[in-house]
Amino acid sequence: MTEILCVVGARPNFMKIAPIMDAFARQPIAAKLLHTGQHYDPAMSESLFLQLGIPRPDINLEVGSASHAVQTANIMRAFEPVLDAERPRAVLVVGDVNSTLACALVAAKKNIKVIHVEAGLRSGDRAMPEEVNRVLTDQVSDLLYTTERSAQANLLREGIAPERIHFVGNVMIDTLLTHRRRAVPAEQTLGAAPSRRYAVVTLHRPSNVDNAQVLRGLLETLATIARDMDVIFPIHPRTQSTAAQHQLTPLLETPGIRLLPPQGYLEMLGLMSDATLVLTDSGGIQEETTALGVPCITVRDNTERPITITEGTNTLTGPHPDAILACVADVLTSGGKRGRTPEYWDGQAAVRIAAHLRAWLDGATPDMPA
Ligand code: UD1
Repeated sequence: MTEILCVVGARPNFMKIAPIMDAFARQPIAAKLLHTGQHYDPAMSESLFLQLGIPRPDINLEVGSASHAVQTANIMRAFEPVLDAERPRAVLVVGDVNSTLACALVAAKKNIKVIHVEAGLRSGDRAMPEEVNRVLTDQVSDLLYTTERSAQANLLREGIAPERIHFVGNVMIDTLLTHRRRAVPAEQTLGAAPSRRYAVVTLHRPSNVDNAQVLRGLLETLATIARDMDVIFPIHPRTQSTAAQHQLTPLLETPGIRLLPPQGYLEMLGLMSDATLVLTDSGGIQEETTALGVPCITVRDNTERPITITEGTNTLTGPHPDAILACVADVLTSGGKRGRTPEYWDGQAAVRIAAHLRAWLDGATPDMPA
C-alpha cells in the first residue's frame, strides 16, 4: 500500500524531494514518486535525478509545456485516475510550481490528505504565478511544513489552524549540505580556471524576461558588469527564446558574458560556491547563496523568503539597472553582505518531516517546534 504519494514536476522541486525520499526510505514510510513531466528536457530533469540519487519516478504524467491554465488542467486530468488507482493516505507536494497546485487540488477534492513542504512563503505579489500557487495550495493542505518562522504568521493571517503548521527547516538546504563536497569545480565546468572574478546569473521569471524593455535593461546591465568581472550565465530556455524573439541576442554576445546551457545541480553548486556574487530572480538560489555565504543580488521587487535578507546574504534591487550596479559596486569594494545560517537550515529538515509524518500516519501527533 502507498502511504504517501510524492509529487514533483519542475526543476526546483527535485532538490526538495531528494532528501524527503531518502528520509522516507529510512523511516520507513511507504512512498511512491510521481513526476508530472512539467519539465522534461534532460538537462532540467533527468540529470538532476541522477546527480541527486532520486529514485526513478514510479509514475510520469508527461504533461509538458503549455499556458498556465492548460498545463495546470492537463496535470489535474492526468493525476485524477492515478489517485483513483493508488489511493494513498496522503499526497505530498513541494514548492510553488503549477504541478504543486494542480495535484494538491485534485487530492483535496478527493478527500485525500495534502501535505505541503515549503508552506507559508509569501511575496505579497499576486502577479507572480507562484504566489497564486502558494496561497491556494496552503488553503487545501492538511499539514504545512515551513522553512522559516515568518511563514507561520502568513498562514495564521490566512486562517490556517496553528496545529497544522510545523516549522521543520529547509529541505533544499538538506540537499545542499549533503552534496556540497561533490560540487563540480568551476574550472571544470568552464573548461579553464576563471582568469578574473565572476558573477553567476540566472534569469527566467516572466516579469523579467517576457517584457522586452525589462529584459533589454537587464542584459545591458550584464554587459556593464562584464567590464569588471566575467558574467557566467546558464540560460533558461524561456529566456533564450524571448531574447531571440526581441533581437536581444547581440547583447548576450558582449565580451565577458559567457552563456552556458542549463547546468546540473553539482555544476551549479560549484559555480556559485566560487562566485564573487550571484545575480538572480530565482526563489531557491536566494536561499542557496545564503547557505553558501555568497552575496546574492535578487532582481525582483519583493521576496517570499525574507530571512535571506534579514539573516542571509541577499539584497533586493528589482530589475533596476542603477540599483543593481550600485550593489555590484558594493560587493566589489567591500565584499558585500555577510550573513549567518538561518535556524534549522541544518541538513535535518527531511528527517524531522519523516519522523513527524510517521507518527501522524500512526495516529499520534507529537509536539513539534512551532
Ligand atoms: C517553472 C516554475 C517556476 C520555477 C521554474 C524553474 C511555474 C508556474 N513556474 O517556470 O516557479 O522557478 O520552473 O525553472 O510552475 N521549457 C523547456 N524545457 C523544459 C521545460 C520548459 O524548453 O523542460 C520551456 C518551454 O518553452 C516552456 C517554458 O520553458 O514553455 C516555460 O516552462 P514552464 O514549466 O511553463 O515554466 P518555467 O518558466 O520553467
